[in-house]
Amino acid sequence: MSPTRTPFIAGNWKMNTTPTEAARLASEVAEAVRGVAGVQVAVCPPFTSLAAVAPVLAGTNVALGAQNFHVVEKDGKLVTSGAYTGEVGPKMIKDAGAGWCILGHSERRQFFGETDAGVNRKIRACFEVGLLPIVCVGELLSEREAGQTEKVVETQVRGCFAGLPADVARQCVIAYEPVWAIGTGRTATPEQAQEVHAHIRRLLTELFGAATAEAIRIQYGGSMNAANAAELLAQADIDGGLIGGAALKAPDFATIVKAGA
Ligand code: 13P
Repeated sequence: MSPTRTPFIAGNWKMNTTPTEAARLASEVAEAVRGVAGVQVAVCPPFTSLAAVAPVLAGTNVALGAQNFHVVEKDGKLVTSGAYTGEVGPKMIKDAGAGWCILGHSERRQFFGETDAGVNRKIRACFEVGLLPIVCVGELLSEREAGQTEKVVETQVRGCFAGLPADVARQCVIAYEPVWAIGTGRTATPEQAQEVHAHIRRLLTELFGAATAEAIRIQYGGSMNAANAAELLAQADIDGGLIGGAALKAPDFATIVKAGA
């Protein structure tokens, strides 16, 4: 954590919770983190739970986010609604109450073919409709073992942020999520995570200048939990967490939030 960046803890509920379950969990989370200051908090339920959770979080210190949306680009223009059966557009999640959206999560890259160019398009769509993005990057185990971590993450950041002005980049949050640490119980050590976070910040300095790079929050994600959050968050360039499994238990999530406060 740094003295200048407000830590940000976000829960990625993935494909979990019905609207009824989500409203209950959101209420438990809001209660558990009530009055906790000095840290920003968000939860990201599935699409179908956004409208159920929004009124539960209204007036609390917990913000609402989504996990994805669809957008296409035609003749240089972003198309955010239309004939795309089964898809959900960015204005829809914004109107359902979301202020944030996770983009380019590794599960979307792995299972749904998402690319850095697609994430770049989605970042631009976020700013067109008034959402703020959490942009996920991270290497596979095979890439780490081949010594390619920094190169892989650098390619992702360059691709996702290509052509964006510094004042847009400054408002984005990046989540570094090593794929081998997601849902495996195998967390990156604080030193491993810090090394990559510092590399990302050096790259952001090159791309956007020092002031912008210093302002951008970089979350860590991957088996972050109530027991290991404090030592991860103690690292200079770790500005929060994107929490999967542990975000589904309000007491555990609240412990992580308090570790960030
Ligand atoms: P876990 O915390 O379950 O490892 O998931 C991390 C993650 O993918 C958050 O986006």
